[in-house]
Order: sequence, then structure tokens, then C-alpha cells
Amino acid sequence: MVPLGPLAPGKTLGILGGGQLGRLIAEAAKGLGYKTAALDASASSPALQAVDFPIVGPVDDAAAAMTLAAQSDLLTLEWELIPVKVLEAVARARPLYPEPSVLGLIQDRLTQKNYLAKHGFPQTPYGEALSALGWKYPVILKRRTHGYDGKGQCRLESEADAPKADEVLKAPCVWERMVDFKAEISVILARGRDGAVAVYPIAENVHRRGILHATRAPARLPRDVSARAIALAREIAAAFGHVGVMAVEMFLLHDESLLVNEIAPRVHNSGHYTLGGCATSQFEQHVRAVCGLPLGSTDLVPGGASMVNLLGDLWANGEPKWSVIDGIPGMKLHLYGKSGARPGRKMGHYTVAGPEAEAEFARADERLAAMRR
Ligand SMILES: Nc1ncnc2c1ncn2[C@@H]1O[C@H](COP(=O)(O)OP(=O)(O)OP(=O)(O)O)[C@@H](O)[C@H]1O
Ligand SMILES: [Mg+2]
Repeated sequence: MVPLGPLAPGKTLGILGGGQLGRLIAEAAKGLGYKTAALDASASSPALQAVDFPIVGPVDDAAAAMTLAAQSDLLTLEWELIPVKVLEAVARARPLYPEPSVLGLIQDRLTQKNYLAKHGFPQTPYGEALSALGWKYPVILKRRTHGYDGKGQCRLESEADAPKADEVLKAPCVWERMVDFKAEISVILARGRDGAVAVYPIAENVHRRGILHATRAPARLPRDVSARAIALAREIAAAFGHVGVMAVEMFLLHDESLLVNEIAPRVHNSGHYTLGGCATSQFEQHVRAVCGLPLGSTDLVPGGASMVNLLGDLWANGEPKWSVIDGIPGMKLHLYGKSGARPGRKMGHYTVAGPEAEAEFARADERLAAMRR
């Protein structure tokens, strides 16, 4: 087979999925001279508003995905739950990165955990049944597929909480031991088609109700912990044969050991700080990796960077008071163009790059409270 060369400027990058991640990928692709197409069920989805060729149709439908393929020269995705059969069909029509086999290993939590276990990566104790955890609490129950932002999960502190699990258990699940972590971090990296890897400064993440709240980079970690985290992420990306950006979420325990929580075979919310915070954003880097361009520098601006998510709750009583953040030096606001600000829905985020980044990470709650009407 003739090796695939880089995608030439002027060609079209097609994106399976129409959310904010797709929108930000499309914006970055335009900056590299590409035309863009995206597929989503809703014409008003964030990415479909931003691409040259919006295609309306279900992302999990082979015929709709083939329409996107016909419009595109090369394909990528912003959502990992597209059925592997659909991915295989489009991959026969156009180059697709990451490859369907990678998604096949990742999209089911149990398959992902088993694959990580098989390769010896450290993880939270887990099992298909609570008995595998010795019936010991606290535990967290997670649906094997279609969970995000803490959805499809349930925490059980003791046996008395067992009835809370009934709803989640309506679909196949994994049980996980609740771990008492010191910090949550993520390693965002990009792996090219040639196996070249570029790693971003480690992100330190704060979650609320299972949803990412804020990120700061660089994470405050001893150097040997950073080195171990980066080595783990590199080995994981290589073990999956991934191409594109990948996020590896980890828990740092009190004894400084690291456990892999989950991996995302795509650009990730905890990498949004790279927009303005790094020489090459994770979105541009993803486009570079899948299109076969050289990977860009992941250098962080002096002073570091932070990111705060803007959830629908902020719109409860009307448009947020943007003047609260307007004047922050190094601030960039990204709104995803979603209508319908439901509680917990990611509507946008702001990043702060440079000297104010750390202070703004610490002030995130204060800023959000002040922005609320
Ligand atoms: N085993 C665990 N012990 C302690 N906390 C946990 C555990 N599993 C998950 N959490 C907490 O819940 C958050 C969400 O869990 P997880 O990352 O598994 O879910 P998700 O819904 O797939 O999230 P994402 O939005 O990242 O896709 C984690 O970031 C962490 O804060
Ligand atoms: Mg997660």
C-alpha cells in the first residue's frame, strides 16, 4: 500500500460529531488551510455552525457517515461512541484517524479497563460485579458505555445505598472502588501517524458533581510524579496504536502512586487550557496528527494557564455578567453556540494564560458567583 502523505491545504477534513470539540477542531483546521465538514443530528449543533460543509444526520448511522465521507478527503471524530461498524464502513471510503480498532478498545469501559490491565497499567480496582470488590464500600458504579460528565454513574457509600444503583444497573456496568485521591490530573498528548509523540504540560483538574470544573497547568507535582505520569500516557497511546490527541485521566493517591481513571481517544475538556496557553492548541495538534503534518510545540506560556468551565447553571437567571471577566489579562472566552442552557450542560469556558492564570484558577468560584444574575 502507498503510504498516505500529508493532507494538502485546501482539502476537506470531515469530523464525525458536532459538539464543541468538533467546533474547536474545525476552527483549528481552518487555521491550517483546510476546509471542514461535520456530521451531527442537529443543524444548530456547535460544529455544524462552524464548518464549510454541515451535514445533518445521525452520527451513529452508516449512511449519514458515508455522506460525510463523500464530502471529505480525510476523517476524524470528536465523539468516541460511534459504532465500530460505522467507523469501519467510512474507513474503507476515506482515511480515518484514530482507526476504528482503537475506538473498539476504548468505547466500552470494561473493554478499555481489561485492555489496560492486560498491558499492566495501574488502575482503580474494578469488576463486573460488586463481588469482585469483596462487597466492600464505598464504590462507584459506572455504565460501560454512553457515560460522560458523571452521567450513568452512581456512588454507594454503604450497603444502605444499594437501591440507588437500580437505575444505573438497567444497562451493563462496571463496579469500581472509590479511591481517596490527593489530586486528579490528566496527560494530554498527540501521537502522529508515524508514532511521533508530543506531550502537553500536565493538567491538574477539579471536578464537581462528576463534571470538570477547572483546570490549571502545569499541575503542582513533584518532578518524579510528572515523569511517571507522562511515561504512562506515552505507553498507553502506543499500546492502543492511537493517532491524534489522547487524554489520560489519572488519580494521584496520597502515597504518590498513580492510577489510570479513563482514557479519551480525542481532544479533551482538560486540554482546553492549551487554547492560548500553549504554542499549539490541542485542537491544532489533533489536526496536525491526523492530517500527517509535523506536530507543533507544546510549550506553555510563562506563568502557565488555567481554564474554567461555564455550565448552563450560570444562565439560570439570564445572560451572565461578562464584565466580571472581560478585563482579566490573558483571558479568552469560548462560547459553543448552544441554545438551551440546561443545568450541567457545557455552554463554554474561559482560559487565562500568563501571570494571572494561577490566581484566576483559585478565584474560579468567586468569578462564577459574580457572573451570575
Ligand atoms: N473510582 C473513583 N474514585 C473516586 N472518584 C472517582 C472514581 N471514578 C470517578 N471519580 C470521580 O468522578 C469523575 C468522573 O468520573 P469518570 O471520569 O469515570 O466519568 P465520566 O462521566 O466518563 O467523565 P468524563 O466527563 O471525563 O468523560 C472523576 O473525574 C472523579 O472526580
Ligand atoms: Mg472522566
